[in-house]
Amino acid sequence: MCGIIGYIGNRKVIPILLSGLKRLEYRGYDSAGVGYLVNKKLNVFKAAGKISELENTIPDFEEETFIGIGHTRWSTHGAPTTLNAHPHLNGSGNIALIHNGIIENYLTLKVKLKDLGYQFKSETDTEVIVHLISFFYEKEKSLLKAVRLALHEIEGTYGICVVSSLESNKIVAARKGSPLIIGVGENEHFVASDAPAIMEHTNNVIFLEDGDIVEVFNDHFNITSLANQTITREIEKLDLDISSIEKGGFPHFMLKEIFEQPESIQNSMRGRVLLSAGNVKLGGLENFIDDLVGAKRLILTACGTSWHAALVGEYMLEQYAEIPVEVEYASEFRYRNPILGKSDIVIAISQSGETADTLAAVKEAKRRNASVLGVCNVVGSSIARESQAGVYIHAGPEIGVASTKAFTSQLAVLSLLTVLIGRRKNLAFSYGEKICQELLNLPKKISQILYQKDQVEAIAEKFYEARNFLYLGRGYNFPVALEGALKLKEISYIHAEGYPAAEMKHGPIALVDENMPIVFIAIKDSTYDKILSNIEEVKARKGKVIAIASEDDKTIESIVDHVIKVPNTLEMLSPILTIIPLQLLAYYIAIKKGLNVDQPRNLAKSVTVE
Ligand code: M6R
Repeated sequence: MCGIIGYIGNRKVIPILLSGLKRLEYRGYDSAGVGYLVNKKLNVFKAAGKISELENTIPDFEEETFIGIGHTRWSTHGAPTTLNAHPHLNGSGNIALIHNGIIENYLTLKVKLKDLGYQFKSETDTEVIVHLISFFYEKEKSLLKAVRLALHEIEGTYGICVVSSLESNKIVAARKGSPLIIGVGENEHFVASDAPAIMEHTNNVIFLEDGDIVEVFNDHFNITSLANQTITREIEKLDLDISSIEKGGFPHFMLKEIFEQPESIQNSMRGRVLLSAGNVKLGGLENFIDDLVGAKRLILTACGTSWHAALVGEYMLEQYAEIPVEVEYASEFRYRNPILGKSDIVIAISQSGETADTLAAVKEAKRRNASVLGVCNVVGSSIARESQAGVYIHAGPEIGVASTKAFTSQLAVLSLLTVLIGRRKNLAFSYGEKICQELLNLPKKISQILYQKDQVEAIAEKFYEARNFLYLGRGYNFPVALEGALKLKEISYIHAEGYPAAEMKHGPIALVDENMPIVFIAIKDSTYDKILSNIEEVKARKGKVIAIASEDDKTIESIVDHVIKVPNTLEMLSPILTIIPLQLLAYYIAIKKGLNVDQPRNLAKSVTVE
């Protein structure tokens, strides 16, 4: 959460900071600020609200300025006000700092600093860092040394960027638990919390690691450790193109990403499906295949949508790879006493690869000597780097806060993993081939569903004023019910719950009346007849039923109120299709309510704090 951008070079800094912040706005968008040096003097402008508010506060600019930092905030400590926005300044106004993360011992430090006479202007945890740096600067007269000493006092997580009029030729940055990259240009450098902020300027990046402190100048940079040892890190080339982070004619990133799914899922499978062998190839797991085949148990850990993908993975892996699977919220896994055996493998699933709880679960699993694999979207992300091996889902940048294409790509990759392990066990060639063939057919089938967008929009028109929704499904489509409900609640603020359909009669049925829309995932799979009975039970109580049904189901129209048809596929792959109309439904309902679907209230794209 929160976005960081810093620039030092020969170009005017303000446009670079503002365009970087706009690209980062999906990370946090309740307030923003910039700090830059003009004639060795520090200027700071901040505003509550969106980047456009900040833009209005920055005066028209005559002078040239070549070094600065910018921040877009997702509040943790203190309300989203201008005072709490970053950068924060020290008392003399000559050091400015931006920060992602949480300083856990900030209260203790604040009391000590106040006793020393330091005055605080904000309610944030961040402000203690800049006063600490200022305190050490008095003694050391070196920004780098002062930052290092300050960080020794701090407990918690941080990605920070500091500029100072006292040393106006550099940015000092550091990370622990919050991602930070250095972008390398010609006679210029960038610092950013993630790649989209700087992609239009350079593809050459260095991923900083926890404990790194870097002094960044126009033409060079020095990385050292907290203990002041020199560190060398490779420059990596990011294979991203700028159009992938633009809306490309769509009104919202979310809609663009929903419509990208035929392509994004193809990218997840590219070069990995070996149809004639009825098998798959996952390069990143080559050295781990024997361990996976011999594993006694897989523990899939994740949060939010990725956790729903893990639940579908559990069904697939148990059925076809014949391995016991447990799915656990990363936030729970990290704080209990997970018993991990020698042949247990932990698989962390995360779109961003930065989710704090999932990253902490990975570290906890490693601490307990378990093997850890990562299934991530963002290349070079913390979870991908922290895992011993893994698979990228290659869905491309996902900017909309509501995860869509990452979910279908996660499911595609989990299907590939299932075939990979299954074929080394009892999964027959013929069935392996069938799964591979159906996987390859999915892009076309997703497109068929997307053609029905107007029909979904018409249903949204009927229900957008509803106060509650229920989503019900069984088997492979129970997690889809959870995911459909999550999509709706996060962008439309309508209360929605997902349940296994059979659980309805154990409580939720009490909610059913003529005002309650209920979405059933009722495709012709092994639970179809049971689901039909559940639908009848709802209709008997006058509930309004929207069914996601199979294209060849000729009877369901007669018992439900609205139907959206999806093409037939294998039951294990059906969630990749059934979720598409639910993503569209959530989108159109939120649009009809006049809401900002890409930046829903209180949320941020990657949750890098606990
Ligand atoms: O980046 P991750 O996959 O680790 O993110 C996990 C959740 O924060 C994320 O899926 C969240 O629930 C989304 N907003 C759902 O649309």
